[in-house]
Amino acid sequence: MMAARGYADVVLIDIVEGLPQGKGLDIAESAPWTGFSTTVTGTNDWVDTAGSDVVVITSGVARRPGMTREDLLGTNAGIVRAVVGNAAKHSPNAVLIIFANPMDAMCHVALAASGFPKERVIGQGGMLDSARYRAFISMETGASVKDVCAWVLGGHTEATMVPIVSNATVGGVPLTQLLNTRKVDALVARTKRGGAEIVDLLKTGSAFIAPAAATIEMVDAILLDERRILPCATLLNGPWGVRNGYVGAPVLLGEGGIQKVYTPPLSDDEVAGIKEAGKAVRELVAATPKG
Ligand code: LAC
Repeated sequence: MMAARGYADVVLIDIVEGLPQGKGLDIAESAPWTGFSTTVTGTNDWVDTAGSDVVVITSGVARRPGMTREDLLGTNAGIVRAVVGNAAKHSPNAVLIIFANPMDAMCHVALAASGFPKERVIGQGGMLDSARYRAFISMETGASVKDVCAWVLGGHTEATMVPIVSNATVGGVPLTQLLNTRKVDALVARTKRGGAEIVDLLKTGSAFIAPAAATIEMVDAILLDERRILPCATLLNGPWGVRNGYVGAPVLLGEGGIQKVYTPPLSDDEVAGIKEAGKAVRELVAATPKG
């Protein structure tokens, strides 16, 4: 999907020999029909990624049915620490987009392992969860998803996700005017379980396509300096009562990563939910195996 944008060369890296090379070649061979002139290559060697402007970290294991994202903490922390160390070494000016789970906790690991400023270590979660929320609202109201403006803030776990109802609109019409409370509650619940719904169906892993689309929207904003305001995980200290924790908030994304963070007015329950997300990520950080 990134290759199809046609404005950036893409390097895929994995530890499995042949896998990124095979995927890269397959994608490169799609270029004549997809119609892009940029390159796609695969490698097992970080040297080939040197000087990247953006590095998307999806490394780590995905969950299986019955697992929570938090269950992946021990396994993925070590992987993310090593991968981010290599990414930072070879691309010292890159913006890192973190999407290994549990995502918010992995942002803390990546921030420490990279030594980068927080503006260049950004979590992807709210983007995907908001895409699910918007898709479900569209399915329920019958209105085009293009007109659904609704965000998920807080954390990227079922327990900490906060689908925002208070300012959700469809074409400027409040969601709460379009749907009754029971339906809105059901949408919120389905959004929180959105990742698990896919895992339960696929059985062998988690979602691919919506996460990719959500991530690439962030890459566009950064590399094309679009100055989008998008829901991404960022390190907050103070706003909404969050103390030094990565949580989803509206951020201005453009050249260099996060240019500004906004904390708009929300309902008391929503603010309490985000504050709880901040607490929960600190607990995961404390439980993260070191070294
Ligand atoms: C999901 C995983 C990728 O929500 O966290 O699908």
